[in-house]
Amino acid sequence: MRDTLFKITIAQRDRCFKHIVSRSTPLASPRRTIRSRATTSTEQHSAWSTPWRPDISTGYLDTDLRAEGASSVLVHARPATEPPWWRHAVIYQIYPRSWADGNGDGIGDLPGIAARLPYLRDLGVDAIWLSPFYVSPQADAGYDVADYRDVDPIFGTLADAEMLLATAHDLGLKVIVDLVPNHSSDEHPWFQTALAAGPGSPERERYIFRDGCGPGGDVPPNNWMCVFGGSAWTRVKAADGSDGQWYLHLFAVKQPDFNWQNPQVRAEFEDVLRFWLDRGVDGFRIDVANALVKERGLPDWDEPLHPSDGPGAIPHDRSDKQPPMWDQDGVHEIYRVWRQILNSYNPIEAAGYSDHNDRILCAEAWVDSQERAARYVRDDELHQAFNFEFLRTQWRAGDLRDTITKSFAAADSVGAPTTWVLSNHDVVRHASRLGFPVETKQPNGIGVGDPQPNAALGFRRARAATTLMLALPGSSYLYQGEELGLPDSTDIPDEARQDPTWARSGHTVRGRDGARVPMPWESDQPSHGFSASGRTWLPQPASYAALAVDSQVGAPASTLELYRALLATRKERGLGAGSLSWLGGFAEDVVAFVNEPAAGERVLVISNLGAEPVAIPADALTLVSSGPLTPEGLVPTDTTVWLSA
Ligand code: GLC
Repeated sequence: MRDTLFKITIAQRDRCFKHIVSRSTPLASPRRTIRSRATTSTEQHSAWSTPWRPDISTGYLDTDLRAEGASSVLVHARPATEPPWWRHAVIYQIYPRSWADGNGDGIGDLPGIAARLPYLRDLGVDAIWLSPFYVSPQADAGYDVADYRDVDPIFGTLADAEMLLATAHDLGLKVIVDLVPNHSSDEHPWFQTALAAGPGSPERERYIFRDGCGPGGDVPPNNWMCVFGGSAWTRVKAADGSDGQWYLHLFAVKQPDFNWQNPQVRAEFEDVLRFWLDRGVDGFRIDVANALVKERGLPDWDEPLHPSDGPGAIPHDRSDKQPPMWDQDGVHEIYRVWRQILNSYNPIEAAGYSDHNDRILCAEAWVDSQERAARYVRDDELHQAFNFEFLRTQWRAGDLRDTITKSFAAADSVGAPTTWVLSNHDVVRHASRLGFPVETKQPNGIGVGDPQPNAALGFRRARAATTLMLALPGSSYLYQGEELGLPDSTDIPDEARQDPTWARSGHTVRGRDGARVPMPWESDQPSHGFSASGRTWLPQPASYAALAVDSQVGAPASTLELYRALLATRKERGLGAGSLSWLGGFAEDVVAFVNEPAAGERVLVISNLGAEPVAIPADALTLVSSGPLTPEGLVPTDTTVWLSA
């Protein structure tokens, strides 16, 4: 974990204090220090028999409570008024290929999704985010779009998308769709006309074409590498069949990057936004939101390509070097325009305005720090950005506290909500990731013959991690199947792999297929209920049978029931819009905090990452626990509990 401390200015700190004084409960001095495992039950009782209130320590910027000797430290104050839905929503990511197949072709589709949506209402999420379902040759599982205004036949029709929206809305679920503005498919009509029109044409100006270097232009225009491996440039043929110009693709060969300096590109995407907003979508997740603008001149880049992607990765945002393809300042003016467009669908000055109808934008931006991510969610830009720092944090209490503190400091400094995420379609699922020893460099995919995660350890830690995450104020993202405790599939035969990473890396990096395997719904059905025909576009591992939805519904110890309990309690208690104060008096390897969603309503959260069991206050009521407590009622290793304090 990188440990660049988040810098907060005196002005920000003063603002935060003002906020606390004016908006939060009147705060009393700490009456007791909460005790942990060394306390006897009588002592615990007396420690908790006096109502406890968080103390605002002037040392609140320092997460080391022991050093400060404070009993609690306010990290994030709750808002004074009911915040809009997107500041605390739990949003469930559906990967359409793999959620539910309605037509039996082995690939999930929109009618299949619509039919299963009541499951998500019952789970208790607020919204869904659908990965792309647009017309696409599927060279990168739909992130290579050939028509932004229509649905690919493998997923259904535009009418199916409209029906899905209506069904979701009837069930009280908001719908966020994916927008892929950095690149199109090479089969997009614009790219095809650019190829035909030739060098110097206005058609080529919509993409990034350049002449090659060296004699005959045989060398790519610069040394940039593509995220999936190999050069980021591909050469096209000239009209006479000879070798011609090169085009840039930061991702697959079939994903040419748009030229965002071109006003036509900007106008086109503004229109695409309106197209889907007119159909009633509640927001957009913006694919690689940090890549649209490239540094002028496209200078060479000799550092690692991808922004820090795990332990040991090198941050890019060192003062002397900013990667020319990521996180350029120019992206922000694009998002200011988009924000205006979204606001215009729910104008604040209109009669009957309600922030419940806000449409939102969320950035996928793998940037180097919380500070850089916060720039995307300034007041007049996007509503949310994925908090990938949290996803990347090591399973160590100090690291988690640090990341959480920095996340709030960064988001609060621009008045944005924090987001939290542990899994998505691009990373090894957290039930597997957490099964590797702490500090393991996280693999991009796991296959036969690779070091395997400890499944039981990962499962236990994943439940504890999610229980911690869902107690945090802010908006949380869940990835389909994590509510079942699904691990990555680690035995996909290499010949069945579909992620372009596998081929582009010369069969050295397995890629993301393991996180994308179709959902198991019914243990005893063909393909575990994913498709009536039993077909699946990726094979399901044997372990999925026991984890199918129908074998978990109503089983009190199941992961599905844990998620349901967490989501119900979170909603009932308003935890998404609460405050967060770290608690002192616990061992270093325990994460302990209080979320106080309203004056006097406190939920105490204890995550034990240490080897020793941790005592809980004798008079505290256990609301939810990620695993069983010890026979003595202590919180065992790798377990998180929510307590009513
Ligand atoms: C994003 C998507 C990923 C895709 C890439 C290129 O990172 O999440 O799945 O491969 O963009 O579009």
